[in-house]
Amino acid sequence: MSKIFVLNGVNLGTLGTRRPEVYGTMTLDDIERLVKDAFPGVDLEFRQTDFEGEMVAFIREAAGYDGLVINAGAWTHYSYALHDALESLDVPRVEVHLSNVHRREDWRRVSVISPAVDAAIAGMGAHGYIAAVRYILYRDADRRP
Ligand code: DQA
Repeated sequence: MSKIFVLNGVNLGTLGTRRPEVYGTMTLDDIERLVKDAFPGVDLEFRQTDFEGEMVAFIREAAGYDGLVINAGAWTHYSYALHDALESLDVPRVEVHLSNVHRREDWRRVSVISPAVDAAIAGMGAHGYIAAVRYILYRDADRRP
């Protein structure tokens, strides 16, 4: 059974009430349920933290998984510490954003973690997490010779 780690960073624990017009009305628990229901045969572990050092520790822990999905929240835009932790990780990594960061404030267009991941998804809401898990599970089947 594939084991996939899903990490959510700073402020994502407030989903559901935080700017629903931008992030939707689902809580992080709702998203977790949606993703787990979509992949009954996959061992999915969800964690959220508001502490950057704890997130670094979680990223290191991801070495024991088959893939990592990460929504780093605002850290995305300035945390070289997360970049470096992700860069050292040797498992498939996907960056996810609920909102389309490219049509918001200019500073959200910059992701300092993107160079350290395999793929990035933005603007699909909770579907982005499902797309990220699908990519990790099936990416080898989709490789052209
Ligand atoms: C976010 C986008 C970030 O810019 C923001 O700081 C977040 C959430 C998203 O999921 O759309 O906290 O990562």
